[in-house]
Amino acid sequence: MKNRNKTVWGDRFKNPTSKIFEQFGASIDVDKRLFEEDISGSIVHTQMLVKQKIIDKKKGKKIIFGLRKIKNEIVKNKFFFNKKHEDIHLNIEKRLFEIIGPDAGYLHIARSRNDQVITDFKLWIKKSSKEIIKKLNDLMKSFLIKSQNNIYTVMPGFTHLKNAQPVSFAHYLLAYVEMFKRDKKRFSNSIEYVNECPLGVGALAGTSFNIDRVFVSRKLGFKKPTNNSIDTVSDRDFALDFLSAASICAVHISRLAEELIIWNSDIFRLIKFNDKMLTGSSIMPQKKNPDPAELIRGKAGETFGKLQAMLTTMKGLPLSYFKDMQEDKKLVFDCYDTLLKSILVANELIKNMHPNKSRMLALANEGYTTATDFADYLVQHKNLSFREGYKISAKLVSYAEKKGKKLNELSLNEIKKVKKDLNYDVMKIFDVKNSVKSKSSYGGTSIKNIKKMILKLKKEIK
Ligand code: ARG
Repeated sequence: MKNRNKTVWGDRFKNPTSKIFEQFGASIDVDKRLFEEDISGSIVHTQMLVKQKIIDKKKGKKIIFGLRKIKNEIVKNKFFFNKKHEDIHLNIEKRLFEIIGPDAGYLHIARSRNDQVITDFKLWIKKSSKEIIKKLNDLMKSFLIKSQNNIYTVMPGFTHLKNAQPVSFAHYLLAYVEMFKRDKKRFSNSIEYVNECPLGVGALAGTSFNIDRVFVSRKLGFKKPTNNSIDTVSDRDFALDFLSAASICAVHISRLAEELIIWNSDIFRLIKFNDKMLTGSSIMPQKKNPDPAELIRGKAGETFGKLQAMLTTMKGLPLSYFKDMQEDKKLVFDCYDTLLKSILVANELIKNMHPNKSRMLALANEGYTTATDFADYLVQHKNLSFREGYKISAKLVSYAEKKGKKLNELSLNEIKKVKKDLNYDVMKIFDVKNSVKSKSSYGGTSIKNIKKMILKLKKEIK
């Protein structure tokens, strides 16, 4: 038992580590999550040491046997994680000694925890970025289904949260698909950035052993080995990339949540949620509150905090490794857990959200939303400049406002007060459905565009 608790560096130290620091400095509770990556890295490292004849086959076999056994123990919850050994790397090494004896000491030839930890972490970030991409795909599919069912649902589009122009609800939803598509790309890029293998740079200077870094890199699924040993152990850009991709994605989720909360409010009443996505009040019996949407909006702040924390940790560090960097994993793991769950909740919200179509149509007619269409009509049919058309349309809005009428409630004679030579043809301009149909420029809200876009996106998002 005594030996079990001895640190790797114990022989050189007069006193054991302070108990207080032992607790404070250990990262095992956090980085045990890297056990699979750590063991894969160690197995490939051993295979390389054997291939390069740095250690003999027998030792290699023994080490790999021990590592596989440890993996099995961890998976089966039979592994004792010891804070005395700080982190996942030393915990596994210590256990390897217990299982195979002194030959375990050959595993750490030509590597350091400095290159080991980033290899594990990069492998984990790759895996986890792929998981986020998968969940983003599922979310986008739900958006596509909702869009498909709402191509003809007309709602008021807003700027400044004031009614602006009529749009199709499907078009509005597809805007979010574009946002999440960009997020997906950011996470794919983040995978690209982690694609260089750190293993073999040692503590910071490289190694005198004749190692084969290309072999290790290929076997672990990286594109190539990193170029500079000092940069390699100093670099946490990949963690920052992940956190920043996550933060931007969290911005999108938060904006979506905010939008849903507003639409669901008693004042807007543009959508309803299935009771599954609402909670009650302990005092007000009538209440149904959109807590899930509120919480994913709230959690975005936590995600930005992780990015800020990581940026601050890195900004003052000279090259190369410092213990400060150990904080990177907690930040990224927490961020991942929160983001993944937020994406799942966002998906549930979209699946369980139902537009109030009649209310949407009624509101689309409020706020003179076809005033721009009228100005455009005057340009297209009466040979006016846009500014002239704009002025005449503004006059009509003022007139309607004074009369307490909506634009589509005005008679032809009333409309003619602002421009004499108009005929019945102009009346269609004040129909919000016509307005939506007319926005056929690429990327606009016309029904034809939306149908095409849904088909395109369906092929893209599989
Ligand atoms: N647990 C450490 C970390 O995550 C591993 C690297 C330790 N390296 C060292 N030189 N103390 O940063």
